[in-house]
Amino acid sequence: MPTLECNFSGIKCLNPFWLASAPPTNCGEQVMRAFDAGWGGAVWKTIGEPITNVSSRYSSIDWAGQRMMGLNNIELISDRPIATNLREIAEVKRRYPKHVVIASLMVESKREAWHEIVARAEDAGADGLELNFGCPHGMSERGMGSAVGQVPEYAEQITYWVKERARTPVIVKLTPNITDIRMAARAAKRGGADALSAINTINSITGIDLDTLVPNPNVDGLSSHGGYCGPAVKPIALNMVQQINADPASVLPLSGIGGIGSWRDAAEFILLGCGNVQVCTAAMHYGYRIVEDMADGLLEWMRQKGFETIEDFRGLSLPNVREWKHLNLNYKIVARIDAAKCIGCQLCYTACWDGAHQCIHLDRTLPTPDTTRTPAQIQAVSSTRITTTPIPKLDDAGPQTAGTPLDRIPRVDEHECVGCNLCSLVCPVEECITMERIDNMPPQTWEERTASPTATH
Ligand SMILES: Cc1cc2nc3c(=O)[nH]c(=O)nc-3n(C[C@H](O)[C@H](O)[C@H](O)COP(=O)(O)O)c2cc1C
Ligand code: SF4
Ligand code: SF4
Repeated sequence: MPTLECNFSGIKCLNPFWLASAPPTNCGEQVMRAFDAGWGGAVWKTIGEPITNVSSRYSSIDWAGQRMMGLNNIELISDRPIATNLREIAEVKRRYPKHVVIASLMVESKREAWHEIVARAEDAGADGLELNFGCPHGMSERGMGSAVGQVPEYAEQITYWVKERARTPVIVKLTPNITDIRMAARAAKRGGADALSAINTINSITGIDLDTLVPNPNVDGLSSHGGYCGPAVKPIALNMVQQINADPASVLPLSGIGGIGSWRDAAEFILLGCGNVQVCTAAMHYGYRIVEDMADGLLEWMRQKGFETIEDFRGLSLPNVREWKHLNLNYKIVARIDAAKCIGCQLCYTACWDGAHQCIHLDRTLPTPDTTRTPAQIQAVSSTRITTTPIPKLDDAGPQTAGTPLDRIPRVDEHECVGCNLCSLVCPVEECITMERIDNMPPQTWEERTASPTATH
């Protein structure tokens, strides 16, 4: 039987599912309920000198019926006293010794301040420390959060100070609000970090209320840029995770964060090299119990794939991400439409004509009953009419009356199709447009093609 038990940077975990530092980990009562629900670990809501939060503080983007596809917040770190948070961490660790509690920390950029908070968090029993170098709003205006994460020298310096004092693993949480996340990751590594986590939230303005003309969230008629997270940011997070894990100067145990809400999301981050995952928005949206499906789903997938542990598949997709110049230029696929599944909406036709390569056509005609020929004779003629595209029902009047009329089912000219995928992406019917491989040439990369003296490209 596969197991979800794992080890992240020396920290033993019951499973790879941790709650990210955010409202779901604001206090001990919440964290204990989360552990009861099945979370293996929790990164405590960032602890520092308590601040005052504003009201309101969240806004979101809904998209095509999906609520909170992207969540934006202008919340700062914990507004509870440091001593209260640390007392609750100690109590949670006393009651849940096998679960992981990480103290997320953010204090002024002073050596003594970091030494002091590190010692207090570790004395409280935290299993590790996460340095919040990522918060993009409010705290950054005071020289903390992403103001540190965006300057590699600062990130390195503070990591170094923390490592001078820390006895537990130090995880540096990176900001995505930087041109190249590897610069910050390398700095953290140079500073002695034991591990990294990525990503924190992305700077954003989610939208403007067209009645009040004030952007969301509205704080007494004004707004401020906030941090974006949730399903919308997952592709950005995956890319940054890949960049870090493919860079020898950056690579450290990495906790993946950003838009994770299902076992599939978790599997994808682990396949790109993450040792575990952290979740915020999905837990805020659906509650702690989402972890039940995440654990069951991941275990079942591991069983089907023959993976016994998280380590068995961690990083397996990394070698499949290469620079563009290493891709096979001779790989060729074309779109094929399954006439039996097509509902005749013609979205693919519009997409290909206006957004791709004008090779989907609406020139198929409804059959007129042919009483002069046998079905075999009709089939023989039809197969010569359109040479490259199979049209199973052409001229067969019977089944067409029950399905989509033939003149609404588009036809792909495979000679012109460049295999861009657009039609299959817009088609609303699953598996109706499949992309089929048709190449018969040996693989050739851009480098190989341009190296050839007779190259034409
Ligand atoms: C309301 C809110 C508050 C957050 N507060 C913190 C925080 O105090 N410290 C921190 O490191 N990250 C904080 N985050 C960022 C999350 O930990 C996480 O990095 C981010 O939301 C991306 O994950 P997600 O897409 O699963 O939400 C916060 C996020 C939200 C939505
Ligand atoms: S988008 Fe799909 S269902 Fe719609 S016409 Fe094209 S193939 Fe048929
Ligand atoms: S794959 Fe692209 S080029 Fe080919 S038919 Fe579809 S939209 Fe057109």
